[in-house]
Amino acid sequence: MSGHEFQSHFDDAEGGVDFSDESTLIDANGIAEMQSIADRYPHKRSALLPILHLVQSIDGRISPAGIRIAAEIVGMSEAQVSGVATFYTMYKRRPAGQHHIGVCTTTTCAVLGGDILMSCMERKLGIAEGQTTSDGKFSLERVECNAACDYAPVMMVNWEFMDNMTPEKADELIDALASGQEVHATRGATITSWKEAERVLAGFPDGRADEGPSAGDPSLHGLRVAQEHGWHAPDPADIPAPTQEESK
Ligand code: FES
Repeated sequence: MSGHEFQSHFDDAEGGVDFSDESTLIDANGIAEMQSIADRYPHKRSALLPILHLVQSIDGRISPAGIRIAAEIVGMSEAQVSGVATFYTMYKRRPAGQHHIGVCTTTTCAVLGGDILMSCMERKLGIAEGQTTSDGKFSLERVECNAACDYAPVMMVNWEFMDNMTPEKADELIDALASGQEVHATRGATITSWKEAERVLAGFPDGRADEGPSAGDPSLHGLRVAQEHGWHAPDPADIPAPTQEESK
């Protein structure tokens, strides 16, 4: 499969959102939902990040129409909204795939095979990092530490964790997703689609928040060791107040 770039980073030659593609699926209902997000905040501009997630859940990218409508709702200029959308890598300027694959290659994952996983995924999907397959099924991104180092090497599918990955497991995962099988993250959550995950990030729960454990066994290991040794955090009352010099 060859692919096109979904471009989440802002340091490429083209610079910004793809204004050559004016297509949008945002309708009156979408605008009403964007407005409902803004209504949750005392200052409407505080709603910009979840509104942009909703734009992605509808259009599969940050669309020019999404930028215009968001700007109007939160009372910012289109340039300001565009600046936010091109700053954060979680916002995609061209369509991401139905399933967005993130491979962590930060230190712990890299030491335990993250870069090998990335190479395997590039070969398997036939695309380079930062691209989406031509059939729109998958996009692939190198991601920074997911705060899941105790499960390294880690991959993400639509922001759900796939822990302790190997090239074989990653291969099977892609095959299962490609064939439309129901797939669960290693911590239990059902894998939906990137667009559906974006809708949750916009603040519209899908009722799956309690699928899987809230903290897995490796994450609780330190707590168990501390309990066995009677270790605990210092009582805040025993912590000396900072000196005037330290407070500066
Ligand atoms: S280095 Fe990969 S999750 Fe922390």
